[in-house]
Amino acid sequence: MNRVGIEAIAIAVPQRYLDIEDLAIARGIAPAKYTVGLGASEMAVADPGEDTVALAATAAARLLRMPNVDASKIGMLVVGTETGVDHSKPVASFVQGLLDLPRTMRTFDTQHACYGGTAALMAACDWIASGSADGRTALVICSDIARYGLKTAGEPTQGGAAVAMLVSSRPEVLELDRGMSGVFSTDVHDFWRPLGRREAVVDGHYSIECYLDAVAGAYRSWRERATEREVVREGPTYRSEQLARIVYHVPFCKMARKAHAHIRKCELEDVGGAALDAVARAREDALDAASFETQVAPSLMLASRIGNTYTGSLYLGLTSLLHLQGAELAGKRIGLFSYGSGCSSEFFSGVVGARAAAMIERAGVEEILGRRTRIDVTEYERIMELPRESAVGGATDAAPGTFRFAGVRDDRRTYVGSAG
Ligand code: COA
Repeated sequence: MNRVGIEAIAIAVPQRYLDIEDLAIARGIAPAKYTVGLGASEMAVADPGEDTVALAATAAARLLRMPNVDASKIGMLVVGTETGVDHSKPVASFVQGLLDLPRTMRTFDTQHACYGGTAALMAACDWIASGSADGRTALVICSDIARYGLKTAGEPTQGGAAVAMLVSSRPEVLELDRGMSGVFSTDVHDFWRPLGRREAVVDGHYSIECYLDAVAGAYRSWRERATEREVVREGPTYRSEQLARIVYHVPFCKMARKAHAHIRKCELEDVGGAALDAVARAREDALDAASFETQVAPSLMLASRIGNTYTGSLYLGLTSLLHLQGAELAGKRIGLFSYGSGCSSEFFSGVVGARAAAMIERAGVEEILGRRTRIDVTEYERIMELPRESAVGGATDAAPGTFRFAGVRDDRRTYVGSAG
């Protein structure tokens, strides 16, 4: 069977961030609600110059600067996004132009809330695995700005980032298990953004319920296929525990804890057993907590410092995990869960590459985080209230190797910057 998966990853984040405790204090809320209750520590604040296109192009430029990434071999460019900048022209087309990429490639965007990035990744993998790519690679980018608005319940769960991935038949970062994905989708109104609106509408608590239903459905479906293929086995341990790590889509970090406990609850239910008494429940809760620390916590570093990144969330989770533990996970199988409100979801798995740690080091995660500037709540509110199409910073204000939106001229969005 043809090998396929992620060969390299690069990221881009907004230049400014807010300490989440500063936001809590300004809103008269106990900081522990945000830090412990939601699991956040910092939140990225994108100015209008750092739009979905600019972040996508910056991440892709970083990817293309990596050794052995050959732009002339890319035959497909797909951007997963739910915060595109035009109803018709895809973000992918802007990125192709900004990076002066070859004309011999398919370009399109994929949309299904936060699931759009996974839809893009799967389309690229299927294209390569089917043989249609004929040796070419795909560039998959997840790029979004998550906005709920000032003083809303969702305010502490905003953020933004882009993740660019080279997808190929040399999956040095993660080789995907083909044919094993478990999917779950249903028509629900948990989160949406009517045309023309900049801020999402969200039924927050209901969206958590929808996510949990989806993770149960998708996980069980993956488990059935993985068991048939003897990738996991029924036995003394839960089959989810046979995955070295599980990376979850995280609209806020606490969601991963809820999702992981839910999967374990499904495992327990599925082995049939009597209802748990208080002692057994306490023991189960302790096992859930320990399992979370080992299997899930290392994937949450970037989300806790950037916030929600919609389509990019799962892949920032993968980047965090391999940044922290890439060497020890080489050759091991991990699970990934992607959720997009509305809803569509997918549980899939893959094997970490022998060179994953070295490949992720090229993403320069610490350096990118370290270059950001902390702002106060007054500055955050000023930025949030800027008109969507204001080109903050002026037309020449893009650091080398990055891109910025520079205003609308003749009805056309313009950008400044360079691929570096
Ligand atoms: N110390 C510690 N924890 C605290 C606390 C304190 N002082 N005060 C509250 N908490 C905990 C709550 O117990 C809760 O944790 P739990 O869910 O494990 O019980 C958590 O903090 C959040 O509190 P809650 O009252 O539920 O917050 P909220 O009503 O303001 O809304 C969201 C939280 C996530 C629903 C809201 O931020 C939102 O709508 N976000 C956007 C939508 C989203 O992210 N959806 C997810 C699926 S895609």
